[in-house]
Parts: sequence; C-alpha cells; structure tokens
Amino acid sequence: SKKHKVCIVGSGNWGTTIAKVVAENTNEHGDIFEPEVQMWVFEEEYEIPKDSKHASSELAGKTQKLTELINTLHENVKYLPNIALPKNIVANPDLADAVKDATILVFNLPHQFIGRICDQLKGKIVPYARGISCIKGLEVSDSGCQLFSDSIGAKLGIYCGALSGANIATEVAQEKFSETTVAYEPPTMDSQQPTPAGTPGGSPHGSHLDLTQLDGEVKRQPRAGGKQGDRKQRLMALPTEYPPLSHKNMTKLFHRPYFHVHLINDVVGVSLGGALKNIVALAAGFVDGLGWGDNAKAAVMRVGIVEEVKFGKTFFGDSVRTATFTEESCGVADLITSCSGGRNFRCAKMAVQEGKNIDDIEKRELNGQKLQGTSTAYEVHSFLKAEGKEDEFPLFTAVWRVLEGEKQPHDIPDMINTTAKIL
Ligand code: NAD
Ligand code: 13P
Repeated sequence: SKKHKVCIVGSGNWGTTIAKVVAENTNEHGDIFEPEVQMWVFEEEYEIPKDSKHASSELAGKTQKLTELINTLHENVKYLPNIALPKNIVANPDLADAVKDATILVFNLPHQFIGRICDQLKGKIVPYARGISCIKGLEVSDSGCQLFSDSIGAKLGIYCGALSGANIATEVAQEKFSETTVAYEPPTMDSQQPTPAGTPGGSPHGSHLDLTQLDGEVKRQPRAGGKQGDRKQRLMALPTEYPPLSHKNMTKLFHRPYFHVHLINDVVGVSLGGALKNIVALAAGFVDGLGWGDNAKAAVMRVGIVEEVKFGKTFFGDSVRTATFTEESCGVADLITSCSGGRNFRCAKMAVQEGKNIDDIEKRELNGQKLQGTSTAYEVHSFLKAEGKEDEFPLFTAVWRVLEGEKQPHDIPDMINTTAKIL
C-alpha cells in the first residue's frame, strides 16, 4: 500500500520545530508515512553569525541561501538555532515542488502570509490531501471572521484540522515536556477506525461540523463565524491504497514522548484559543511592563479567557465548548505560557518599559520572527466594530486602544472594570 507523504508549509521558529516533531515520527512509523518530510522555506540569504557554533564551517563568512544552510548543517540557523534537525527533513524553496504528491499538508507560518501561499497552492496539491493548521490567528475580511483551518480548507478544497497548544517553540524543540491539542474531524470516509470515544464517525465532544457522505462527496455546513456566507465543500475521498487518516494515525504523526497530543473535535475552540490569547499576552506584557506584578497579570488573564469563550459562543455558536478553553492545552495552558514567556508578552513588556513602539521592539528583538498579537488585535477590533460589539469585549478593545495610542497601559484596569457600571 502507499504511504503518506508529509509537507510542512512554513519554516519559522514553530514551523521548523513541528517539522522536527513530524520527521521523528515519520521515521518511526514507516508503515504509514514516507520518512522524508518536505519543509517549504521562504527563501532568503543569511550569513552565519560569528558567535554561532558553525562559524568555522566553510559556509560561514558570506551570505548563503537559507535552504542550503538547513540542508547542509541540518539546523535552521536563523529561526531555530542550536537545535539539531533530523536528516529526513528536506528544506525546499519551491512551494509547488515541496507539496508535490503530499497527502498531508501541515500549515505553519505567520498568519499574515497564508492567504498568498494558498493562492499559489491552488491546483498544485493532490486533490485528496488533508491539512492541519498550526497557525495562531484569524482571517478577518469584509465577509466576516474565519478560522484558518476553514479558510485553507475552502480555498484548497481539502479538509483541514487544527493543532494548537501551550507550545513555546524553543522548549518543544529542546524536547522539554509539553502538551498540545489537535482538532481533527475528518470526513467519515477517511476514518476506517473508531474515534477515541468509540463512536465511529461521532465526536467525543459533540460535533459542530456537519459532514455527510454523499456518493464520495462531502457536503459541509458553514460555521456561524461572523458574516460568513453559506458554502458547500466538495471533498475527494482518500484513495483506499493509503492508510486511513484516522484519529489514531494523525496522533502518530504528532505525538512524541515530550509532546503529548490530545485529540478533540472542537476545531473552533482550538483555533480561537490560539489566536485570541495573543491579544491577551500583549495586555499581560503591558501591565507587567508597568511593574504591577502577578496579580495584575492574573486579572488580565482571567478577563482574557472569559472573552475568548464569549467570542467563540457569540460568533461561532454554542457548539464551541467552554471546556476547550478551560481544560485543554490550547486554552488556559496556552494563555498561561504565552503570558509568561511568549514573544507577544515579552515584546509588549519591553515596549512599555522602554517607552517604545512595539513594532520597533519586534524588529530589534526577534531576528525576523513575527508577532501575531498586534495584527490580530487590529483584525479582531475591526470585526468587533463591524458587529457593534466592541464594548462587550473590553480587554480585546483595550489592547487595540493601547496599540493605537488612544489609551495608555495604565488605563487598562478602568477599561475592563465591570464593577464601575453598578457603582
Ligand atoms: P516566525 O515568527 O518564526 O516567522 C518567521 C517565518 O516567516 C520564517 O519562516 C520566514 O521565512 C517567514 N516569512 C517571512 N516573510 C514571509 C513572506 N513574505 N511569506 C512567507 N513567509 C514569510 O514563525 P513561527 O514561529 O513558525 O510561527 C508560525 C505560526 O505558529 C504563527 O501563527 C504562530 O503564532 C504559531 N506558533 C508559534 C509558536 C512559537 O513559539 N514560535 C508556538 C506555537 C504557535
Ligand atoms: P508567542 O507567539 O507570543 O511567542 O506565543 C507562542 C505560543 O503560541 C506558545 O504557545
């Protein structure tokens, strides 16, 4: 029988880390996956820094293509330095070539770039491919607010699930223990095995995505997200010569002894937790930058998780589970880790401490890595404004006001003070 070929679309800090996780697993599960993992790299020239352990390599001393550096040194020297990568990862600058024949596409790049990448992928992927989005962000447009798993799926005509959790990339890359949440609710025609709940085709958490098999065609009901219009999606069945892309086999692709996967069916909750916590992490950075201590940060985090759940229920319907936010890695755990050591938190804190613009701090501190919280705060604000609901999400709105310069970090307590209304 055929094996699944995997391509990681993206190669930043998290993209390269997930490539490592996946490549370790494709090596171990050769009965299901081709060992080689293609990793698409947005090509750039890079010069090995003088303090790098590769400074004496013959590649040092002049700029080189990043793909050549990765494939020769088996390290992403720019975005994941000092982490040895499995040799079965192949860095490829040619997007169409990287995804050729791949039946599993793992999307992992800063959210602002995915739209253009999907445009380039149209017609280049196998029609029965399945996707997993590791992107933390939301796609906000005139037609509403969409999950990336949905927009990728719709643009490419494939099923796309989501992976998100309390996963600071460097810690995962160093194989320090963490958990993650994968939401993968494949078309029933892919699942030739029972789901974890033991109910074939059913959902342990109540299905929100109506997939009905109709002569090899799956009709998919749209989510209630924003002003999203009705649409049908045609999904092509996975040929039977491939191992099924069941929950079990998708778990085998991501689970490691140091990276525990919990599979659930709430794609919306998983995606929203990852996207919205980036706004909360900015708020946590703002109050920490003022030197206000842990109580202030905890207050912001509490309001943050309340607004995450409310956002889900208001715009995506009641099938979004509160427990996804309060019990899963993609919810409260990601909020905690992101508000402790994440890039959004750290850059927001420095911006307040130094009285500088956060975009300048991002450029200075992150060596090309991208903050997701700043653009998400603007995108979510434009969506809330269009919906007339800015006041119902005071923390999300407060972060936007601070970024805009309309308000200062020390105004945040007043902006989230619900008691003020009854006094
Ligand atoms: P990153 O912040 O390291 O961003 C750098 C990447 O963006 C590089 O691969 C670079 O080549 C690419 N890039 C720059 N310009 C581009 C362009 N014009 N087109 C396409 N690509 C371009 O990225 P990351 O950390 O891998 O983040 C990817 C996603 O994963 C984000 O949504 C992020 O929120 C999420 N995430 C990150 C972490 C983390 O700790 N880094 C953890 C979990 C989830
Ligand atoms: P930052 O993008 O703020 O670093 O957050 C990383 C993350 O998503 C941890 O789970």
